[in-house]
Amino acid sequence: MRKTTVNHDFPPLKNDLILRAARGERTERAPVWVMRQAGRYLPEFRKVREQHPFFEICQTPALATEITLQPIRRYSGLLDAAIIFSDILVIPQAMGMTVEMPEGKGPTFPQPLAGPDDLAKLKYPVDVDHELGYVYEAITMTRKELKGEVPLIGFCGSPWTLMAYMIQGGGSRGGFHSAKRWIFQYPLASKELLSRITTVCVDFLIGQVRAGAQLVQVFDSWASELSPHDFEEFSLPYLTKIAREVKMGLLAESLQPVPIILFAKGANYALADLARSSGYDVLGLDWCIEPQVARGLAGDSVALQGNIDPDILYGGKDAIEREVERMCKGFRSGSRQGPKGWIANLGHGITPGVDPEDMRHFLSCVHRYSSGELQ
Ligand code: CP3
Repeated sequence: MRKTTVNHDFPPLKNDLILRAARGERTERAPVWVMRQAGRYLPEFRKVREQHPFFEICQTPALATEITLQPIRRYSGLLDAAIIFSDILVIPQAMGMTVEMPEGKGPTFPQPLAGPDDLAKLKYPVDVDHELGYVYEAITMTRKELKGEVPLIGFCGSPWTLMAYMIQGGGSRGGFHSAKRWIFQYPLASKELLSRITTVCVDFLIGQVRAGAQLVQVFDSWASELSPHDFEEFSLPYLTKIAREVKMGLLAESLQPVPIILFAKGANYALADLARSSGYDVLGLDWCIEPQVARGLAGDSVALQGNIDPDILYGGKDAIEREVERMCKGFRSGSRQGPKGWIANLGHGITPGVDPEDMRHFLSCVHRYSSGELQ
């Protein structure tokens, strides 16, 4: 069997630290990247954003590539991965919904799904390669421009998190009450919607790998809205299906398998289950669990990613250093060698007000405190 059907001729990879950690290996230091690392805290992003609407940037491969590379350039040698500039809400768009991103207001759906009858308005099946081909183009272009400096991460939103936006019609400020009402009032229609989104996620992640993504991450940012019982019924089965079908799909196309990361914010209670049977290689942690406890629950079969509180980046240089040191000790959990299967990150995305120099300090502290020789 051929190992790959796509011959992109990408430059050879010079830094595979994150790939090794994602496979659960002990690494000489923790690889580090930051969720939302390409974005509003960077003046170079804001400059591009002043000239272009948000989704125009996502849909223009040269602009998406440029923004993906901005943090890699600025923090040269400090970041161990790039994440493609896009948004989780490109999937609802591919399903036929209008999504706007007014400056400073967050995502807005002018016509959210009002009830089960609205499912008929969604495109289905979705020709994902056609609808989201611009993301693939951006990925291929970025892989070339990265020149093998660091691996490139692709991503999508989880079915539950996307459903929450599609019904709620916007951000989290008021909570996700309408979306929650669906799962209680219309459980069957909710599951139909979740299944449809799952199919799109699977095709989309496989397409991103085909285009050149070297890892992929699923963001279940609003898992935190669900009780453990409802997470098990309305999120977990779909997350599991994504991991299984992406792996099978890559195999069927003779594409190299890539590590799959799950970030299920607020679902730390499910860590043991997720590690045992969800099929993800890496589990992302928010800051509400200590690293040692997380490792105890997850066991050694998965890698972990995270997890300091993003607000620590507002605490000044000393606080950043102190907390990074604590996090590194936690993930090293007594070993004198480097950390085992750990990718350093924040416990959620970096926020717009962070001083880019404080982000630099965070990254260099991770380099300093996560290496095997210290302690
Ligand atoms: O990580 C990266 O740097 C890659 C790009 C990326 C963006 N969004 C760019 C973006 C990624 C991975 C996302 C994921 C995303 N989008 C998530 C999951 C991660 C998380 O934080 O939980 C979610 C929930 C969304 C939906 C979304 N998009 C929201 C809630 C917002 C508004 C809040 C915010 O962070 O600004 C967006 C807009 C958005 N996505 C911006 C960027 C750079 C800012 C848009 C602007 O310039 O107006």
